[in-house]
Amino acid sequence: MNHFQYKGNELHAEEVPLKEIVARVGSPVYVYSHATLTRHFTAFDEAFAGVPHTICYSVKANSTQAVLRTFITLGGGADIVSGGELYRALQAGVDPKKVVYSGVGKKDDEIEYALNTGILMFNVESEQELTRISEIASRMGKKAGIAIRVNPDVDPQTHPYITTGLKNAKFGITIDRAMTEYARAKTLPGIDVIGIDMHIGSQLTKVTPFVDSIEKLKAMIANLRGQGIDLQYFDCGGGLGIQYSTEEPPLPADYGKEIVAATKELGMHLLFEPGRNIVGNAGILVATCLFTKERDEKNFIMIDAGMNDLARPALYGSFHGVQPVVKDQDGMIVADIVGPICESGDFLVKDREVPMFRQGDLMAFMSAGAYGFAMSSTYNSRPRVAEVMVKGNQFEVVRERETVEDLIRGERVPSFL
Ligand code: LLP
Repeated sequence: MNHFQYKGNELHAEEVPLKEIVARVGSPVYVYSHATLTRHFTAFDEAFAGVPHTICYSVKANSTQAVLRTFITLGGGADIVSGGELYRALQAGVDPKKVVYSGVGKKDDEIEYALNTGILMFNVESEQELTRISEIASRMGKKAGIAIRVNPDVDPQTHPYITTGLKNAKFGITIDRAMTEYARAKTLPGIDVIGIDMHIGSQLTKVTPFVDSIEKLKAMIANLRGQGIDLQYFDCGGGLGIQYSTEEPPLPADYGKEIVAATKELGMHLLFEPGRNIVGNAGILVATCLFTKERDEKNFIMIDAGMNDLARPALYGSFHGVQPVVKDQDGMIVADIVGPICESGDFLVKDREVPMFRQGDLMAFMSAGAYGFAMSSTYNSRPRVAEVMVKGNQFEVVRERETVEDLIRGERVPSFL
């Protein structure tokens, strides 16, 4: 359920016609619904109402300040993967004690920054990283809270590029080695062993791979308890999928029921790192039809947004629904909807039946709230687009459209030229 619906023949974000937003802010533009963000966060949170838990929203999915602030206000923490994400989350007002830090390549300065900030824990992804964190924390006279990110070797049955919990993935530490590392971590001066972590992939549409992984980690936890290593936090990662077209992912409540059943006896504080599940269907990208061309073999609809604005179709062949902002087209046509980028991979829709858009028509790419703006770039020297948040009948620009001046900010022509 989201709040992008037609009233009459006009698509609205909550109470605001999208046409009105484009008239004020221009095109293309990302539009987020505050009610949908809130509803999705709350549904996830309530799924775990009966057990101690924290929702550490995965900042990478959408790191815009207004979005972060929305979740922080609802009690959310943050799952970060860089110093930049930590900065964004802190600026938005996150409580550092609700921050977990994942990622296989943490740099010294990022580790120091996180330690100075006093985050809850580092999700450690390699033996060398554990040593490094201990060295840095000791030097700073601190102890770093850590969990080991365990790679449980479970197939999440999703796109290979977003599968992370199989043995051949770069993520985490395998079960056997993790057991050795826990024992070693206990002896390291700068380390406080407080948790265990997993994240097996993204856009999962079944609960079974989560539960299978949890079972593997539970066996480890029992074993560790036997060795006197008692963990407080169980970080279940993110990855719960959403509906882009015909997928039928479990509802957060059903996911919650199974996860709680699987973890209850442990009596641990659960952490979650959802990204897509709470922001994905809370955002859309609105763009304008520039031209159309019909060829014998294929029809093309050229628009003012491209793979630099929404990379997912080009990168993963992902599906995003497309809807007219005003429904007044004369029927449907099979076409590619393509951007202005000089690459054949620059499409948002491929060989699909879509409304017969004409020059000037506005269209909305649905389910673009996660990994949409966050993955956008300025490739082909295209300034990044504006972002707008809607709440009821109000809307505000939450990120200004970039200008051409922004494109060369920080560049220098060397003195020898
Ligand atoms: N935690 C960790 C450690 C992660 O690596 C990720 C996502 C998440 C949580 C959040 O996962 P989510 O709940 O959003 O599935 N760009 C791709 C998705 C990449 C996911 C990367 N990691 C896409 O557009 O589909």
